[in-house]
Amino acid sequence: GVMDQLAGIRQQEKELASLLGIERCFIVSGNADEQSKVVVAMGKLVNESLEALLPDGKNVIAVMGGTTMALIADCLTPHLAEKRELLFVPARGGLGEAVEIQANSVSAKMALRTGSKHRALYVPEQLSEEAYAPLLKEPSIQKVVKLIRGSDAVIHSVGSAISMAKRRGMSPEVLAMLRKAHAVGEAFGYFFDESGKIVYKIPRIGLQLEDLTKMECVIAVAGGSSKAKAIAAYMKHAPRQTCLVTDTGAAKMILKK
Ligand code: BG6
Repeated sequence: GVMDQLAGIRQQEKELASLLGIERCFIVSGNADEQSKVVVAMGKLVNESLEALLPDGKNVIAVMGGTTMALIADCLTPHLAEKRELLFVPARGGLGEAVEIQANSVSAKMALRTGSKHRALYVPEQLSEEAYAPLLKEPSIQKVVKLIRGSDAVIHSVGSAISMAKRRGMSPEVLAMLRKAHAVGEAFGYFFDESGKIVYKIPRIGLQLEDLTKMECVIAVAGGSSKAKAIAAYMKHAPRQTCLVTDTGAAKMILKK
């Protein structure tokens, strides 16, 4: 019955968290690859987790981009900002995504949904490394970067390596290198193989993996069986305090191994 099913999911959440070496997991029933309502259900859990984890008062929240994050943004509620002063910032700049799913847009949407503020990081997407370097020296950019790297919370997704590389229009050379290195997952512009080894990093400003360790609240949200390998690979790097919001599509495949 329904109660058995629920007890089963609660049990899977515990097993998954312990397998991945993180504090908490929430599993929504379904497969995000097939139904977008599963992502909405994950979004509600993200909202509830923020409600439970964020302290009253000021909170700077760094957010990543992607199609998952863009949908999650719509699930945040004004209640989150009732006793809190939230400031949303993009976690990393210029990863080469379409405007609607850029971290800047997700951050702006979250601010709008919750009735709070946001700060943008203006660095063009698809910029050469040479053109990029002097931008980092700009005081206005440095100010936002400081805010980002010292943020209190982060909400991010995890992507499948090759589809992320393609979507961002990365060069055939890089794509070939990623294939050769057996990259399976991507988060924050870092690419991982199945063992969790970083095989490539898009050189961009903003949050770096090492910044995560000191953040109180880290929420990873990714579902769908197609992302199982990607999630497991990234989780080798995830800080202990990570809370993963996922679905049974991904969870079952990760637990099978
Ligand atoms: C990107 C983020 O925008 O979206 C990545 O920069 C993330 O870190 C990816 O892995 C996930 O995308 P999607 O569309 O699968 O949610």
